[in-house]
Amino acid sequence: MNKTIAIIKGDGIGPEIVTEAMAVLDTVAAKFGHTFTYQDAPMGGNAIDTFGVPLPDSSLETCMKSDSVLLGAVGGPKWDDQPADKRPERGLLKLRGAMGLYTNVRPARMFSDLSASCPLRPDIAAKGIDFVVVRELIGGVYFGEHSTAEVDGEQKATDIMAYSEHEIRRVAHVAFQMARKRRKRVTSIDKANVLDTSRLWRKTVTEVAKEYPDVELLHIYVDNAAMQIVRDPSQFDVIVTENLFGDILSDEASQITGSIGMIPSSSMGEGTRGLYEPIHGSAPDIAGQNKANPIGTILAAAMMLRYSFDMAAEADAIEAAVDATLKAGIRCGDIWQDGCTLVGCREMGAAIRSRI
Ligand code: IPM
Ligand code: MG
Repeated sequence: MNKTIAIIKGDGIGPEIVTEAMAVLDTVAAKFGHTFTYQDAPMGGNAIDTFGVPLPDSSLETCMKSDSVLLGAVGGPKWDDQPADKRPERGLLKLRGAMGLYTNVRPARMFSDLSASCPLRPDIAAKGIDFVVVRELIGGVYFGEHSTAEVDGEQKATDIMAYSEHEIRRVAHVAFQMARKRRKRVTSIDKANVLDTSRLWRKTVTEVAKEYPDVELLHIYVDNAAMQIVRDPSQFDVIVTENLFGDILSDEASQITGSIGMIPSSSMGEGTRGLYEPIHGSAPDIAGQNKANPIGTILAAAMMLRYSFDMAAEADAIEAAVDATLKAGIRCGDIWQDGCTLVGCREMGAAIRSRI
Protein backbone atom coordinates (compact mmCIF):
# COMPACT_ATOMS: atom_id res chain seq x y z
CA MET A 1 0.00 0.00 0.00
CA ASN A 2 1.02 3.61 -0.55
CA LYS A 3 0.14 6.04 2.21
CA THR A 4 0.85 9.71 2.66
CA ILE A 5 1.52 10.75 6.24
CA ALA A 6 1.55 14.38 7.35
CA ILE A 7 4.32 14.90 9.89
CA ILE A 8 4.05 17.50 12.62
CA LYS A 9 7.34 17.40 14.48
CA GLY A 10 6.37 20.26 16.77
CA ASP A 11 8.50 21.76 19.53
CA GLY A 12 10.84 20.61 22.29
CA ILE A 13 11.50 16.87 22.06
CA GLY A 14 8.95 16.61 19.22
CA PRO A 15 11.48 16.41 16.36
CA GLU A 16 13.58 13.73 18.11
CA ILE A 17 10.74 11.39 18.96
CA VAL A 18 9.02 11.79 15.59
CA THR A 19 12.28 11.04 13.78
CA GLU A 20 12.49 7.71 15.61
CA ALA A 21 8.85 6.89 14.89
CA MET A 22 9.34 7.63 11.18
CA ALA A 23 12.38 5.35 11.10
CA VAL A 24 10.25 2.61 12.69
CA LEU A 25 7.55 3.17 10.06
CA ASP A 26 10.20 2.84 7.34
CA THR A 27 11.39 -0.45 8.82
CA VAL A 28 7.81 -1.72 8.79
CA ALA A 29 7.29 -0.46 5.22
CA ALA A 30 10.40 -2.32 4.02
CA LYS A 31 9.38 -5.51 5.80
CA PHE A 32 5.75 -5.54 4.66
CA GLY A 33 6.16 -3.99 1.21
CA HIS A 34 4.48 -0.62 1.78
CA THR A 35 5.50 2.89 0.83
CA PHE A 36 4.99 5.71 3.28
CA THR A 37 5.47 9.23 1.94
CA TYR A 38 5.98 11.95 4.53
CA GLN A 39 4.98 15.57 4.24
CA ASP A 40 6.07 18.11 6.82
CA ALA A 41 3.31 20.21 8.36
CA PRO A 42 4.85 22.80 10.69
CA MET A 43 2.68 23.53 13.75
CA GLY A 44 3.18 24.96 17.22
CA GLY A 45 5.79 27.36 18.55
CA ASN A 46 8.17 26.78 15.63
CA ALA A 47 5.36 27.73 13.24
CA ILE A 48 4.69 30.91 15.25
CA ASP A 49 8.38 31.81 14.88
CA THR A 50 8.46 31.10 11.14
CA PHE A 51 4.95 31.96 9.93
CA GLY A 52 3.53 34.10 12.73
CA VAL A 53 0.68 31.64 13.41
CA PRO A 54 0.60 28.29 15.23
CA LEU A 55 -1.09 26.45 12.34
CA PRO A 56 -0.45 27.91 8.87
CA ASP A 57 -3.12 27.16 6.24
CA SER A 58 -0.53 25.24 4.22
CA SER A 59 0.01 22.84 7.16
CA LEU A 60 -3.70 22.37 7.64
CA GLU A 61 -4.05 21.59 3.94
CA THR A 62 -1.20 19.07 4.10
CA CYS A 63 -2.99 17.33 6.99
CA MET A 64 -6.39 17.38 5.26
CA LYS A 65 -4.92 15.83 2.12
CA SER A 66 -2.92 13.16 3.94
CA ASP A 67 -4.03 9.64 4.75
CA SER A 68 -3.15 10.33 8.38
CA VAL A 69 -1.19 12.65 10.65
CA LEU A 70 1.64 11.89 13.09
CA LEU A 71 2.41 14.50 15.72
CA GLY A 72 5.23 14.84 18.29
CA ALA A 73 4.32 17.58 20.75
CA VAL A 74 3.83 21.32 20.70
CA GLY A 75 4.45 24.17 23.12
CA GLY A 76 7.16 25.48 25.41
CA PRO A 77 7.98 28.32 27.81
CA LYS A 78 9.19 30.50 24.93
CA TRP A 79 5.58 30.97 23.77
CA ASP A 80 3.81 30.93 27.15
CA ASP A 81 3.26 34.67 27.27
CA GLN A 82 1.74 34.93 23.81
CA PRO A 83 -1.89 36.09 23.46
CA ALA A 84 -4.37 33.19 23.28
CA ASP A 85 -4.59 33.10 19.47
CA LYS A 86 -0.81 32.96 19.12
CA ARG A 87 -0.15 30.10 21.48
CA PRO A 88 1.14 26.76 20.16
CA GLU A 89 -1.82 24.92 21.71
CA ARG A 90 -4.22 26.95 19.60
CA GLY A 91 -2.76 25.27 16.50
CA LEU A 92 -3.59 21.85 17.91
CA LEU A 93 -7.15 22.85 18.83
CA LYS A 94 -7.69 24.36 15.37
CA LEU A 95 -6.37 21.19 13.74
CA ARG A 96 -8.64 18.97 15.85
CA GLY A 97 -11.63 21.16 14.99
CA ALA A 98 -10.86 21.46 11.27
CA MET A 99 -10.28 17.72 10.91
CA GLY A 100 -13.47 16.98 12.87
CA LEU A 101 -11.62 14.73 15.32
CA TYR A 102 -14.32 14.25 17.91
CA THR A 103 -12.99 11.08 19.53
CA ASN A 104 -9.74 10.93 21.42
CA VAL A 105 -8.66 7.49 22.61
CA ARG A 106 -6.02 7.21 25.32
CA PRO A 107 -5.19 3.74 26.58
CA ALA A 108 -4.00 3.38 30.17
CA ARG A 109 -2.25 0.06 30.26
CA MET A 110 0.53 -0.96 32.58
CA PHE A 111 3.35 -2.82 30.85
CA SER A 112 4.16 -5.83 32.99
CA ASP A 113 7.89 -5.12 32.66
CA LEU A 114 7.37 -1.63 34.05
CA SER A 115 5.28 -2.44 37.11
CA ALA A 116 8.14 -1.18 39.30
CA SER A 117 7.47 2.34 37.93
CA CYS A 118 3.80 2.26 39.00
CA PRO A 119 3.26 4.83 41.77
CA LEU A 120 0.29 2.96 43.27
CA ARG A 121 0.50 0.58 46.21
CA PRO A 122 1.70 -2.85 45.01
CA ASP A 123 -1.54 -4.60 46.03
CA ILE A 124 -3.52 -2.12 43.92
CA ALA A 125 -1.14 -2.36 40.96
CA ALA A 126 -1.24 -6.15 41.18
CA LYS A 127 -4.91 -6.12 40.16
CA GLY A 128 -3.78 -4.72 36.81
CA ILE A 129 -4.36 -1.48 34.93
CA ASP A 130 -5.89 -1.82 31.49
CA PHE A 131 -8.52 0.69 30.52
CA VAL A 132 -9.15 3.23 27.81
CA VAL A 133 -10.20 6.84 28.15
CA VAL A 134 -12.48 7.93 25.31
CA ARG A 135 -12.51 11.72 25.45
CA GLU A 136 -14.82 13.98 23.45
CA LEU A 137 -12.37 16.29 21.69
CA ILE A 138 -14.03 19.13 19.80
CA GLY A 139 -16.84 20.30 22.07
CA GLY A 140 -17.44 21.58 25.56
CA VAL A 141 -15.60 24.44 27.17
CA TYR A 142 -12.58 24.06 24.89
CA PHE A 143 -14.69 25.12 21.92
CA GLY A 144 -17.16 27.47 23.59
CA GLU A 145 -16.85 31.22 23.46
CA HIS A 146 -14.01 32.70 25.51
CA SER A 147 -13.94 36.32 26.57
CA THR A 148 -12.42 38.69 29.06
CA ALA A 149 -14.04 42.05 29.69
CA GLU A 150 -14.00 44.92 32.14
CA VAL A 151 -17.06 44.59 34.39
CA ASP A 152 -17.72 46.83 37.40
CA GLY A 153 -14.16 48.05 37.51
CA GLU A 154 -12.50 44.65 37.32
CA GLN A 155 -11.64 42.03 34.73
CA LYS A 156 -14.16 39.27 34.24
CA ALA A 157 -13.39 36.15 32.22
CA THR A 158 -15.99 33.81 30.74
CA ASP A 159 -15.65 30.40 29.06
CA ILE A 160 -18.81 28.82 27.75
CA MET A 161 -19.32 25.09 28.11
CA ALA A 162 -21.90 23.73 25.68
CA TYR A 163 -22.86 20.31 24.34
CA SER A 164 -25.46 19.24 21.81
CA GLU A 165 -26.98 15.78 21.81
CA HIS A 166 -25.35 14.77 18.53
CA GLU A 167 -21.91 15.64 19.89
CA ILE A 168 -22.48 13.34 22.85
CA ARG A 169 -24.14 10.57 20.88
CA ARG A 170 -21.38 10.07 18.32
CA VAL A 171 -18.60 9.72 20.86
CA ALA A 172 -20.77 7.50 23.06
CA HIS A 173 -21.19 5.11 20.13
CA VAL A 174 -17.42 4.88 19.76
CA ALA A 175 -17.08 4.03 23.46
CA PHE A 176 -19.75 1.31 23.37
CA GLN A 177 -18.30 -0.22 20.22
CA MET A 178 -14.88 -0.27 21.81
CA ALA A 179 -16.25 -1.87 24.98
CA ARG A 180 -17.79 -4.64 22.87
CA LYS A 181 -14.27 -5.62 21.80
CA ARG A 182 -13.01 -5.45 25.39
CA ARG A 183 -14.57 -6.29 28.75
CA LYS A 184 -17.99 -4.83 27.90
CA ARG A 185 -18.18 -2.12 30.52
CA VAL A 186 -18.54 1.61 29.90
CA THR A 187 -18.15 4.11 32.71
CA SER A 188 -19.53 7.51 31.74
CA ILE A 189 -18.08 10.38 33.75
CA ASP A 190 -19.85 13.69 34.33
CA LYS A 191 -20.82 16.26 36.92
CA ALA A 192 -24.56 15.81 36.56
CA ASN A 193 -25.17 16.94 40.14
CA VAL A 194 -24.14 20.44 39.08
CA LEU A 195 -23.89 20.99 35.32
CA ASP A 196 -26.61 21.07 32.68
CA THR A 197 -24.14 19.85 30.06
CA SER A 198 -23.51 16.84 32.27
CA ARG A 199 -27.22 16.14 32.75
CA LEU A 200 -27.63 16.10 28.96
CA TRP A 201 -24.49 13.97 28.71
CA ARG A 202 -25.87 11.38 31.14
CA LYS A 203 -29.30 11.27 29.49
CA THR A 204 -27.86 10.93 26.00
CA VAL A 205 -25.31 8.25 26.91
CA THR A 206 -28.10 6.31 28.65
CA GLU A 207 -30.18 6.45 25.47
CA VAL A 208 -27.27 5.29 23.30
CA ALA A 209 -26.66 2.43 25.74
CA LYS A 210 -30.04 0.90 24.79
CA GLU A 211 -28.47 -0.05 21.46
CA TYR A 212 -25.78 -2.01 23.32
CA PRO A 213 -27.66 -4.25 25.77
CA ASP A 214 -24.61 -6.52 26.04
CA VAL A 215 -22.51 -3.67 27.45
CA GLU A 216 -22.81 -2.60 31.08
CA LEU A 217 -23.10 1.17 31.66
CA LEU A 218 -22.20 2.97 34.86
CA HIS A 219 -22.30 6.70 35.57
CA ILE A 220 -20.00 8.36 38.05
CA TYR A 221 -19.20 11.94 38.95
CA VAL A 222 -15.86 13.30 37.86
CA ASP A 223 -14.59 14.00 41.38
CA ASN A 224 -15.33 10.43 42.40
CA ALA A 225 -13.73 9.20 39.17
CA ALA A 226 -10.50 11.03 39.96
CA MET A 227 -10.43 9.19 43.27
CA GLN A 228 -11.47 5.76 41.93
CA ILE A 229 -8.71 5.83 39.30
CA VAL A 230 -6.09 5.75 42.05
CA ARG A 231 -8.13 3.68 44.53
CA ASP A 232 -8.94 0.78 42.21
CA PRO A 233 -8.18 1.31 38.52
CA SER A 234 -8.98 -2.33 37.76
CA GLN A 235 -12.72 -1.46 37.88
CA PHE A 236 -12.45 0.47 34.59
CA ASP A 237 -12.67 -0.88 31.07
CA VAL A 238 -13.83 1.99 28.82
CA ILE A 239 -14.27 5.47 30.26
CA VAL A 240 -16.22 7.99 28.20
CA THR A 241 -16.26 11.64 29.14
CA GLU A 242 -16.41 15.21 27.92
CA ASN A 243 -13.45 17.25 26.73
CA LEU A 244 -12.14 18.98 29.87
CA PHE A 245 -12.79 16.06 32.24
CA GLY A 246 -11.09 13.79 29.71
CA ASP A 247 -8.07 16.06 29.51
CA ILE A 248 -7.58 15.90 33.26
CA LEU A 249 -8.45 12.24 33.87
CA SER A 250 -6.33 10.98 30.97
CA ASP A 251 -3.22 12.56 32.49
CA GLU A 252 -4.05 10.91 35.80
CA ALA A 253 -4.71 7.59 34.07
CA SER A 254 -1.40 7.67 32.23
CA GLN A 255 0.58 8.56 35.32
CA ILE A 256 -0.64 5.57 37.32
CA THR A 257 0.75 3.25 34.66
CA GLY A 258 4.10 4.68 35.68
CA SER A 259 5.07 5.66 32.20
CA ILE A 260 3.54 8.76 30.66
CA GLY A 261 6.31 8.56 28.06
CA MET A 262 4.94 5.24 26.83
CA ILE A 263 1.34 6.11 26.06
CA PRO A 264 0.03 6.86 22.57
CA SER A 265 -3.28 8.36 21.57
CA SER A 266 -5.48 8.55 18.54
CA SER A 267 -7.93 11.25 17.53
CA MET A 268 -10.50 10.40 14.90
CA GLY A 269 -13.71 11.65 13.36
CA GLU A 270 -15.73 10.20 10.50
CA GLY A 271 -13.60 8.28 8.02
CA THR A 272 -10.19 6.74 8.51
CA ARG A 273 -7.92 9.78 8.70
CA GLY A 274 -6.68 10.34 12.22
CA LEU A 275 -4.19 12.28 14.27
CA TYR A 276 -1.77 10.17 16.28
CA GLU A 277 0.49 11.43 19.03
CA PRO A 278 2.04 10.49 22.35
CA ILE A 279 0.06 11.89 25.24
CA HIS A 280 3.04 13.56 26.89
CA GLY A 281 4.12 17.13 26.17
CA SER A 282 7.13 18.73 24.53
CA ALA A 283 9.45 18.42 27.57
CA PRO A 284 11.57 21.48 26.68
CA ASP A 285 13.90 20.80 29.62
CA ILE A 286 15.35 17.73 27.92
CA ALA A 287 14.94 18.78 24.27
CA GLY A 288 17.87 18.17 21.96
CA GLN A 289 19.77 16.06 24.49
CA ASN A 290 18.90 12.59 23.18
CA LYS A 291 17.12 11.85 26.47
CA ALA A 292 13.47 11.65 25.40
CA ASN A 293 11.59 8.36 25.37
CA PRO A 294 10.28 7.83 21.80
CA ILE A 295 8.07 4.85 22.73
CA GLY A 296 4.83 6.86 23.08
CA THR A 297 5.27 8.20 19.55
CA ILE A 298 6.34 4.83 18.16
CA LEU A 299 3.23 3.23 19.67
CA ALA A 300 1.17 6.12 18.22
CA ALA A 301 2.56 5.17 14.80
CA ALA A 302 1.45 1.59 15.50
CA MET A 303 -2.05 2.86 16.34
CA MET A 304 -2.09 4.72 13.02
CA LEU A 305 -1.29 1.54 11.15
CA ARG A 306 -3.99 -0.37 13.00
CA TYR A 307 -6.84 2.14 12.95
CA SER A 308 -6.26 4.35 9.91
CA PHE A 309 -4.56 1.92 7.51
CA ASP A 310 -6.06 -1.38 8.67
CA MET A 311 -2.55 -2.87 8.98
CA ALA A 312 -3.00 -5.07 12.04
CA ALA A 313 0.02 -7.35 11.46
CA GLU A 314 2.25 -4.33 10.98
CA ALA A 315 0.98 -2.71 14.17
CA ASP A 316 1.45 -6.00 16.04
CA ALA A 317 5.05 -6.11 14.81
CA ILE A 318 5.80 -2.69 16.31
CA GLU A 319 4.09 -3.46 19.61
CA ALA A 320 5.88 -6.79 19.90
CA ALA A 321 9.21 -5.09 19.20
CA VAL A 322 8.52 -2.57 21.98
CA ASP A 323 7.65 -5.38 24.40
CA ALA A 324 10.80 -7.30 23.42
CA THR A 325 12.96 -4.21 23.90
CA LEU A 326 11.54 -3.69 27.39
CA LYS A 327 12.01 -7.39 28.18
CA ALA A 328 15.67 -6.99 27.17
CA GLY A 329 15.98 -4.39 29.93
CA ILE A 330 16.55 -1.43 27.61
CA ARG A 331 15.19 1.79 29.12
CA CYS A 332 15.15 5.53 28.62
CA GLY A 333 15.62 7.71 31.71
CA ASP A 334 11.92 8.11 32.50
CA ILE A 335 11.39 4.36 32.91
CA TRP A 336 14.85 3.35 34.02
CA GLN A 337 15.17 1.01 36.98
CA ASP A 338 18.06 -0.74 38.71
CA GLY A 339 19.79 -3.39 36.62
CA CYS A 340 18.54 -2.04 33.28
CA THR A 341 20.49 -0.51 30.42
CA LEU A 342 20.00 3.25 30.15
CA VAL A 343 19.75 4.46 26.55
CA GLY A 344 18.88 7.67 24.73
CA CYS A 345 16.12 8.42 22.27
CA ARG A 346 18.08 7.33 19.18
CA GLU A 347 19.33 4.11 20.76
CA MET A 348 15.82 3.24 21.93
CA GLY A 349 14.53 3.75 18.38
CA ALA A 350 17.30 1.58 16.97
CA ALA A 351 16.70 -1.14 19.58
CA ILE A 352 13.03 -1.32 18.62
CA ARG A 353 13.75 -1.32 14.88
CA SER A 354 16.21 -4.18 15.25
CA ARG A 355 13.42 -6.27 16.80
CA ILE A 356 10.86 -5.74 14.02
C1 IPM B 1 -3.86 17.26 25.53
C2 IPM B 1 -3.24 18.59 25.83
C3 IPM B 1 -4.00 19.64 25.06
C4 IPM B 1 -5.43 19.64 25.57
C5 IPM B 1 -3.39 21.03 25.12
C6 IPM B 1 -1.96 21.05 24.63
C7 IPM B 1 -4.21 22.04 24.36
O1 IPM B 1 -3.23 18.83 27.20
O2 IPM B 1 -3.84 16.84 24.36
O3 IPM B 1 -4.35 16.63 26.46
O4 IPM B 1 -5.73 20.26 26.58
O5 IPM B 1 -6.26 18.99 24.92
MG1 MG C 1 -3.90 17.19 28.35
